[in-house]
Amino acid sequence: MKHKSQFPKLKSPVLLSPMAGVTDVAFRTLAKRYGTGLTYTEFVSSTALVRGSAKTSDMLRTSPQEKPVAVQLFGSSVQDVVDAARMLEDRFDIIDINCGCPAWKVIKTGAGSSLLNNPDKISTFINKLASAVQRPVTLKIRAGIDEQHINAVEIAKLAEDAGAAAIGVHGRTQKQGYAGQANWDIIRQVKEAVSIPIIGNGDIFTPETFKQRMDESGVDYIMVARGAMGNPYLCSQINKYLAQGIYDTKHPLEQLQEYLALAKQYAIAFPAIKNHTTNFTKGLQGSKKLRLGISQASTAEQMHSLLDTFQRNDEEQ
Ligand SMILES: Cc1cc2nc3c(=O)[nH]c(=O)nc-3n(C[C@H](O)[C@H](O)[C@H](O)COP(=O)(O)O)c2cc1C
Repeated sequence: MKHKSQFPKLKSPVLLSPMAGVTDVAFRTLAKRYGTGLTYTEFVSSTALVRGSAKTSDMLRTSPQEKPVAVQLFGSSVQDVVDAARMLEDRFDIIDINCGCPAWKVIKTGAGSSLLNNPDKISTFINKLASAVQRPVTLKIRAGIDEQHINAVEIAKLAEDAGAAAIGVHGRTQKQGYAGQANWDIIRQVKEAVSIPIIGNGDIFTPETFKQRMDESGVDYIMVARGAMGNPYLCSQINKYLAQGIYDTKHPLEQLQEYLALAKQYAIAFPAIKNHTTNFTKGLQGSKKLRLGISQASTAEQMHSLLDTFQRNDEEQ
């Protein structure tokens, strides 16, 4: 079956990759303000969702400013994933299936990257989903299970035939986790093998690398993850660099203040806010003590006071 709903034409080629514990609605809205073409929720368990978990529905909040937004689901039960997608299709523009997570607690259930062992099951997932929902169905995969079992091209062809609207490819294997380097040659091979849009992913930390990888691989879009953690302004830098060959920077503390305002607006839980504050301040001179203090802070007031002191000292230097 060919895809029914096509992948939308996005305004920017830089997408904010899904990140558990990071891409909450406030962070996504900030990345959108900084020009990302598409945001994804953190991965959400389809089974937890169909069972009505409150924590899971918290992860599904969106903001009107961030559209288009994709929801990323994971699971090993085709029925649960289809039911979850049906529940969500009115609220999200794209339904994405996680076939790349290497975490043990996910793969031991047969979900995430363990699906790479079973291309036929991925095909069934996509086929059933594409006929069940009106939204474009996409998937995010890795290069393969390990160096001896690289099968991204095979999976991409099956997924396209089954009705996928686009495919995200992280150029690492499951076995690699986050070690070593992403293999962009495999991403290029996937792009050449199918005609639906391909979203490359892996090790993009600068606008220069973004452009080089786009040019070399020919992909339609690139997702950035760790490079945007603590610096979502990277999306704006990439857009400017692609258009004008130059880009500016925005101080991480300025970005953090914008995040904190949005986090307040969307009532993000304090532990998640602390996590972001740590990410935004990493690498700033003299920030080690600040992060230690933040890790021990038990209220938002304590955290803000530590930040104010740090910012004042930073400005005086
Ligand atoms: C903290 C963290 C959480 C992540 N959570 C998810 C997730 O929920 N779903 C997913 O598909 N990938 C997840 N990833 C993988 C990223 O989306 C991305 O594929 C990977 O980090 C490679 O891109 P990068 O080199 O730009 O970081 C996560 C990565 C990080 C660092």
